[in-house]
Amino acid sequence: MEMYRLICCTLSIWLCMSRVHGESSLGMGMEVLSTKLTHCSHERAYDMYGAYCAGLRLSEIPSLKSGIEILDFSDNKLNEIQPDTLSSYSSIKYLYLGENQIYRIDKDAFASLPYLQSLDLSNNVILELPDSIFQLPSLRNLYLKNNPLIHLSIGKLHLSRPIKAPLELLDISNCKFKSLPNWGTLPHLLQYNVSHNPLQQLEAQQFAAMCNLKKIDLTKSIEGINLCNMKSSVSWYQYKSINFILDLDDYKKLNSDEFDRCATNETYTEVLNITYARCKQMYSKLQSVHSARRTWLTVTGGLAGFLVGFMLLLYLMHRHNVAQTKAPAEKIKKIVPRNDSDRHAAVPILNTEARDVST
Ligand SMILES: *[C@@H]1O[C@H](CO)[C@@H](O)[C@H](O)[C@H]1NC(C)=O
Ligand SMILES: *[C@@H]1O[C@H](CO)[C@@H](O)[C@H](O)[C@H]1NC(C)=O
Repeated sequence: MEMYRLICCTLSIWLCMSRVHGESSLGMGMEVLSTKLTHCSHERAYDMYGAYCAGLRLSEIPSLKSGIEILDFSDNKLNEIQPDTLSSYSSIKYLYLGENQIYRIDKDAFASLPYLQSLDLSNNVILELPDSIFQLPSLRNLYLKNNPLIHLSIGKLHLSRPIKAPLELLDISNCKFKSLPNWGTLPHLLQYNVSHNPLQQLEAQQFAAMCNLKKIDLTKSIEGINLCNMKSSVSWYQYKSINFILDLDDYKKLNSDEFDRCATNETYTEVLNITYARCKQMYSKLQSVHSARRTWLTVTGGLAGFLVGFMLLLYLMHRHNVAQTKAPAEKIKKIVPRNDSDRHAAVPILNTEARDVST
C-alpha cells in the first residue's frame, strides 16, 4: 500500500512537471514566432543598447525593451508620429526614421526624448513639422533630406529664435526650398547641406549667424540665382574659410570676370561682421555655461567620492576596532579566573588593549 502511494505520488509530480515544461516550451515557441513577425532585434553597439527594426514593413513601432538608446526604424511604413509613439523610450539618443511614409509629426512627438542627439527623418513626405523639434535640448544632427513637401511646413513655422537645439549638422538637401529657412543664430552649426534645392537667393546674413560653420554643400542649388546676388555670400565663405561645395560648372561661373566685376557692399559686410560677432559671443557664453556646469559636476563628484571613501574608511576602522576589542574580551572570558589574583591580572590587559585602540 505504502509502495503504491509512493509510485502514484512520483507519477503525479512527474506529470505536473512535464505539463509546466510543456507550457513553457509553448510560450517560447510563441516568442520565436513573434520575433519572426517583427524581427526587431536588440543589440549592443558602440557601447549603447539599441533596437533594430529596419526594413520590416511595419506601420507601427512594436513594443520594445525600455532603456534603448538607439532605435533604427528606417525603411518601414510609419505614417504619423504621435505623442505616445515614442513616449516609452525616453533614453533614445539616436533615432532613425528615414524611408518611411511620415507625413505628420505631432508637436509633442519627441517631447519625452530629452537625450535625443541625432534624428533622421530623411526620405519621407513630411507635411507638418513642429517647431518643438528645433527646441530639443540635445539635438545635434538633424537630417530632413528628400522631403519634397517639407518646405511648405517650414515656411509657416513660427520658430522661437534662437533655437535651443545645439545643431551641428543640418541636412535639408532636396527639399524643394526656393529660399533657405531663417533659423536665426546657430552657434554650433558645423555642416549645412542645402544641395539640390531650387534656390533663388542666398542671404549672407544667414551664414554670418552660423559663426562656426565649416562646410556648406550648395551642389545643384544655385543655378537659379543671379550671379552678382551671390557675391556677398561667396565673399563671406572665402573670408571665413568656409568650405563651399559646388558643381564644376558653378565653380567656373564664380571664376569668371563677370563675377569679379560684381560690386561688394561695404556697409553690408559691416552688418555681417556684427551678426557674426553676436553669434560668437553667444557661443562663448554657452561654452562657459557648459564648462562651468562640467566643473561644478567634477567638483561635486570629486567631493562625493571623497566623502564616500572617507565614510568607508571610518567604517573599516570601526570594524577593525570592534574586532580588536572583541578578541581580547573573548580570550579573557575563556580564561576563567580561579582566584581573585588571576581576575586582577586579566583586567589590566584588557585596559591596555582598549587604550591602544582608542588612540
Ligand atoms: C549633401 O546631400 C547630398 C544629397 O542628399 C549628398 O549627396 C551629399 O553627399 C551631401 N553632402 C555632404 C557634404 O554630406
Ligand atoms: C569685418 O571684420 C574684420 C575683422 O573681424 C575686418 O577686418 C573687416 O574690415 C570688417 N569689415 C567691415 C566692412 O567692417
